[in-house]
Amino acid sequence: MGRLAGQVAVITGAASGIGGACALRFAQEGARIAGIDVNEPPAEQRDAVAKTAGDAFWTRADVRDEASVERAIGEVLARFGRIDALVNAAGVSGYGAVDQVDAAEWDRVVDINLKGTFLVSKHALRAMKAQRSGSIVNLASIEGLEGMQSQAAYNASKGGVVLLTRNMAIDYGQLGVRVNCLCPGFIETPMTNVLKTPGLEGIRRQFIDLHMLRRPGKPEEVAACALFLCSSDASFVTGHALVVDGGFTAGRRLSEVPG
Ligand SMILES: NC(=O)c1ccc[n+]([C@@H]2O[C@H](COP(=O)([O-])OP(=O)(O)OC[C@H]3O[C@@H](n4cnc5c(N)ncnc54)[C@H](O)[C@@H]3O)[C@@H](O)[C@H]2O)c1
Repeated sequence: MGRLAGQVAVITGAASGIGGACALRFAQEGARIAGIDVNEPPAEQRDAVAKTAGDAFWTRADVRDEASVERAIGEVLARFGRIDALVNAAGVSGYGAVDQVDAAEWDRVVDINLKGTFLVSKHALRAMKAQRSGSIVNLASIEGLEGMQSQAAYNASKGGVVLLTRNMAIDYGQLGVRVNCLCPGFIETPMTNVLKTPGLEGIRRQFIDLHMLRRPGKPEEVAACALFLCSSDASFVTGHALVVDGGFTAGRRLSEVPG
């Protein structure tokens, strides 16, 4: 019996990376899956989830656009009639110090990462409130907890996700809805593949070295934590920001550790 047997899980950003890994893992644990993404999932991703889940469907929506989100959540409810778990994994990176970031780029990053989390949660919460149950997991970041050089918009958006998570935990806890977020470190996904381009490998190595485990994380390792937070094992966990960061935020290493 899977840990999400019979449950309905909505996963945004499900066409790639962490959202894709959540869709597959949640399907393996018995959930029916609704994947929401602005892009179509690759065929192999769609097939893997379809083969594993009792029932799965995908719909395209831009999480920045309320009408598009409302339609997508309406499709989920028409098909499944309820929403037990929501993982807000749609997101984008964004680079530049404050004086280098165009206002339009700021809006793009903050709108997808923060407003998108708000909008999808808003529409899913209507169903969760009526059910008096549900679990939401937002993808924040270590960059929602600590500053990072030249990541002004991304830092601000992820800091916002951490506090929005706590806000929702307060507002919906007494209605039986739990809300937590994950703060991953460097995870190997298409988002971080940009650091494999020639000239950026040094920064990639340096970033990975700041993780005490000295390796990048895998999307499956983040999905396992999302699964924990959505499962009954986390029934008394809400308002929490769980780091999944290989020790990035543990502190500072001052020299090579012998041995
Ligand atoms: N990869 C990492 O190192 C890392 C670390 C910390 C946090 N995160 C966060 O985890 C989440 C997933 O990241 P990932 O690494 O899997 O990235 P990814 O690029 O592999 O996947 C992101 C997905 O979001 C979708 N998306 C983007 N804009 C959208 C929009 N407007 N509407 C709907 N879907 C949209 C993309 O199409 C894509 O499928 C993001 O919120 C990211 O900020 C990632």
